[in-house]
Amino acid sequence: MHLDARYPALSDLRARARRRVPRFVWDYLDSGTGSEATTRRNRAKLDAVLLTPSVLHGEVTPDLRTPLLGQDMALPVGIAPVGMSGLVWPGAERHLARAAAEAEIPYTLSTVASRTPEDIADVLGPRAWFQMYPPRDPEIRADMLRRARVAGFAALVLTVDVPVGSRRERQQRSGLTQPPRLTPRLLAQVAARPAWALATARRGMPRMRLIDDYAGPTRGLPSNRHAGYLLRTAPDWDYLRWLRDNWTGPLVVKGVLDPADARELQAAGIDALWISNHAGRQFDAAPATIEVLPEIRAATDLPVILDGGIEGGLDILRACALGADFVMLGRGWHYALAALGPFGPAHLAHILRADLEANMGQLGLARPADAAARLRRGPAPPA
Ligand SMILES: Cc1cc2nc3c(=O)[nH]c(=O)nc-3n(C[C@H](O)[C@H](O)[C@H](O)COP(=O)(O)O)c2cc1C
Repeated sequence: MHLDARYPALSDLRARARRRVPRFVWDYLDSGTGSEATTRRNRAKLDAVLLTPSVLHGEVTPDLRTPLLGQDMALPVGIAPVGMSGLVWPGAERHLARAAAEAEIPYTLSTVASRTPEDIADVLGPRAWFQMYPPRDPEIRADMLRRARVAGFAALVLTVDVPVGSRRERQQRSGLTQPPRLTPRLLAQVAARPAWALATARRGMPRMRLIDDYAGPTRGLPSNRHAGYLLRTAPDWDYLRWLRDNWTGPLVVKGVLDPADARELQAAGIDALWISNHAGRQFDAAPATIEVLPEIRAATDLPVILDGGIEGGLDILRACALGADFVMLGRGWHYALAALGPFGPAHLAHILRADLEANMGQLGLARPADAAARLRRGPAPPA
């Protein structure tokens, strides 16, 4: 396959993406908070998880289908919510939703995406999820749930690791504002990236369209504030209970890092936990997600989803070995889009599948969920 020869790994897509988008877009997508230590830690701790190959296991046929939240997923991996996807590549939300439907994996639309739930309803598969940044206003809250349900989103994801905005210093240095304003400096960055510039010129600068729908009463905001921040709040346990009572489908809580929270969330009646540190974009002393996975696995019987630094099938197996039921990627799908446009997400799905199968072959695994048996525990201390 031609794409496989040129872009066999996510790192190839990332490198091409970097050459194709303006610097402020790259820094928006790729940066963490602070010195970006948490972003690097996610990766380093994944690399430290070792699995022992298995020998003489005979022929094994990998079965990648994975049940989650009452549905059958073709792969144990899906698409995490990314705000303003359309800034990374025009039409991103539609391309991602369509690719996910074709690959039979979940696509999660962000509250702060550049498309509304209705805009992409016609390309959603049955496995679409809607991610909510919790609106302060109860009427807006109820209306968002209604719109997500009517548009065909099967599950609701409440993100809880953004109680306040974070400082993204690299992003600030590159000159990005919210909403994006094309200053002369940004225009110079755009001029250096003609493919992005042309594609974006055809559709116009993206905006947070769902938020725009509710922004009427909040006009006249100070220039450093976007309406989205007025609609968002830091939710509490009562907020979660309200959501539980008002959303009949599966409810997932995203941004969990503490086993004590995992226990309480299970008691509150949610359907799955999503371990995430927001790719290191919120808090730079957060543990790596893979580091907290074993404690959280031990604290709950709920399905556990994990993201943060996942780059291939081997990482997915590492997460499964430590107790994850499902894995998500955020930036990876967007590197793929920026690198190859609408063809990118399907190519990344292919890379993940091929890498899963190759590594499962080494480990003699029929199912990703069996990876725990191949986990290499540290050598026993000398007697
Ligand atoms: C540019 C960008 C925007 C994001 N926007 C959101 C968002 O709107 N809502 C949300 O819950 N998470 C958001 N996230 C976090 C992702 O959903 C996910 O947790 C993270 O990207 C996973 O790590 P990975 O990028 O290393 O795969 C965003 C991440 C990135 C990189």
